[in-house]
Amino acid sequence: EIKPYSMCWLEYTDLNKYRDKYRRIFGNIVVLGDNSLNLPLKELRDFLTYSLGIKPKIFRNTFANTSNFVLIGKLSDVRKVLKGLDEFEFSLGEEGFLIKKVEFGENSILILTAKEYVGLIYGVFKLIEKLKLGEDIDKINFLSNPSLKFRILNHWDNLDGSVERGYAGNSIFFKDNKIIINDRTKDYARLLSSIGINGIVINNVNVKKKEVELLTIPYLKKLKELAKIFSAYGIKIYLSINFASPIYLGGLNTADPLDKRVSLWWKTKVDEIYEYIPDFGGFLVKADSEFNPGPHMYGRTHADGANMLGEALEPYGGFVIWRAFVYNCLQDWRDVKTDRAKAAYDNFKPLDGKFMDNVIVQIKYGPMDFQVREPVNPLFGGLEQTNQILELQITQEYTGQQIHLCYLGVLWKEILEFDTYAKGKGSEVKEILKGSVFKIKNNGMAGVSNVGDNINWTGHDLAQANLYTFGELAWNPDEKIEKIVERWIKLTFGDDEKVVENISYMLLNSHKAYEKYTTPLGLGWMVNPGHHYGPNPEGYEYSKWGTYHRANYEAIGVDRSSRGTGYTLQYHSPWREIYDSIDTCPEELLLFFHRVPYNYRLKSGKTLLQTYYDLHFEGVEEAEEIRRRWIELKGKIDDKTYERVLQRLNMQVEHAKEWRDVINTYFFRRTGIPDEKGRKIYP
Ligand code: GCU
Repeated sequence: EIKPYSMCWLEYTDLNKYRDKYRRIFGNIVVLGDNSLNLPLKELRDFLTYSLGIKPKIFRNTFANTSNFVLIGKLSDVRKVLKGLDEFEFSLGEEGFLIKKVEFGENSILILTAKEYVGLIYGVFKLIEKLKLGEDIDKINFLSNPSLKFRILNHWDNLDGSVERGYAGNSIFFKDNKIIINDRTKDYARLLSSIGINGIVINNVNVKKKEVELLTIPYLKKLKELAKIFSAYGIKIYLSINFASPIYLGGLNTADPLDKRVSLWWKTKVDEIYEYIPDFGGFLVKADSEFNPGPHMYGRTHADGANMLGEALEPYGGFVIWRAFVYNCLQDWRDVKTDRAKAAYDNFKPLDGKFMDNVIVQIKYGPMDFQVREPVNPLFGGLEQTNQILELQITQEYTGQQIHLCYLGVLWKEILEFDTYAKGKGSEVKEILKGSVFKIKNNGMAGVSNVGDNINWTGHDLAQANLYTFGELAWNPDEKIEKIVERWIKLTFGDDEKVVENISYMLLNSHKAYEKYTTPLGLGWMVNPGHHYGPNPEGYEYSKWGTYHRANYEAIGVDRSSRGTGYTLQYHSPWREIYDSIDTCPEELLLFFHRVPYNYRLKSGKTLLQTYYDLHFEGVEEAEEIRRRWIELKGKIDDKTYERVLQRLNMQVEHAKEWRDVINTYFFRRTGIPDEKGRKIYP
């Protein structure tokens, strides 16, 4: 079956070479349980048939007339027929699974089991992955539970089919104000399930007039169909809502969360939603943020707003995910006191402990807005009694818009491993999210999706790696990034050594390269306003958005130390002190925390200015090296993909040069100091 789009890491490639290895055990599949297991069974059977050329015999609720088989069933059923599985009653979580080979008398059995149906789905995809990689399963004993409870994708898709910050075509969910359901919908669910995603917000956080109607019955009817497709794969549907919906849809003259009519309107609405979608996940809310309405309009707090919705959703087990992306977006560049970086913490820290248990605060990784590098948001470690979701941007808004290769796994891993010291050493972000630092458990990760209707889903073929990595890290934030990269390459391009080596190099070095030729040392911004692509050193310098670097002829950067805006004080010790001093601040964040003279000498002995020039020249060289590694693979990658990627790498090199020259010229014009090495800087 040939699809008009790629199936990414799930593609059925020809794996005949492994056929003999797996034939013995996969020739027979025994299914314990009812028809609800048809789906995982079909996934396994299709894979075996199309990739390995094995057509298994299926036995239902009866052991095969053979001694070797795969056994699929819920743990409660499997335990009835096989002894020795008691311990898994305790070690398996609600969403976890076990793949285990046992020898049982004459029989060799490969067990795939889980407590719940959803675990079998995740488990079957993991099993397929292992087979695709040719792993040895003779002695396999693999138990896996997700570390994080919420593993959610946020689509910024609009009903008209456009995608805010989307770089991979149009929405796969909406077109002309209608909901699209087709083969691709199901294949998307399969892709997401295979990386352990369990929730998906299908519409943009900016909920405009038309999208408000998603809560009305004609749309709910269609959403019901959509939700069914996703829930078969263990994925719940969520909706972004507009806080003023009671006004738009309910005809009320207020959306005040403490007004009885408002809370009643939401309760009735939520009842209605669950009639159509019994496993509806809940609401995502961008309130009092960038012109979206919220409780502040009525003098109420975020907690008032979120809890009002929480009460409506609680009877159904639904959740409110409330975004912490709240700041003054009508700033004046002449005002040097207001610091946007401080806003999330200032808004939410005082509310710690005031949210209901089914309310989760969703926090962008950094205090500003998904720049190529920012410090970790101090709300992580700051909030001790509030459920929290780490928000990452898979779509590459500020990181090259899927024209540039910029593999984000490296950055995300650093964020997850950042030790907040909230309770002393060992208080890493990932430990907070797991619930092991504070007694809060409804945590997780959300990624702004990079998916659209392009044939490769993500615009840049290699940007599929970002989607894959997001899921894998949300399932297990402890995994080594190099491992994830290697696995993704093998699943997508096969296991040719040179292919694995070169693409690993490309991915693992791309974020660093992008950082170097754009705005290194924590500077950020300097992009064209609006669409955010390409260099513009003063694009955001005199705007309302609180994004200033304040460069003059002597120095650049904002003093966010205790002597400046005081942002560093939002961190626990020792970070508070480390960031506070220009001598100890990690250099990759120097210009985020400090105002630094161009002639300041970094640890290398080089001046800030010379470092900036050097990094920009190096960044372009690295982009060229990344392209060279790809060109070496010609003939090893299918031609269409090869050409598609090459085209983007060519654009990347050109645009990297544009970045280098614009930024270097800007610094040169500011300072009048030439490059020590005499390289070309345009005057
Ligand atoms: C960024 C992005 C917006 C988006 C916003 C958000 O500022 O440019 O398009 O709406 O983040 O996360 O809400």
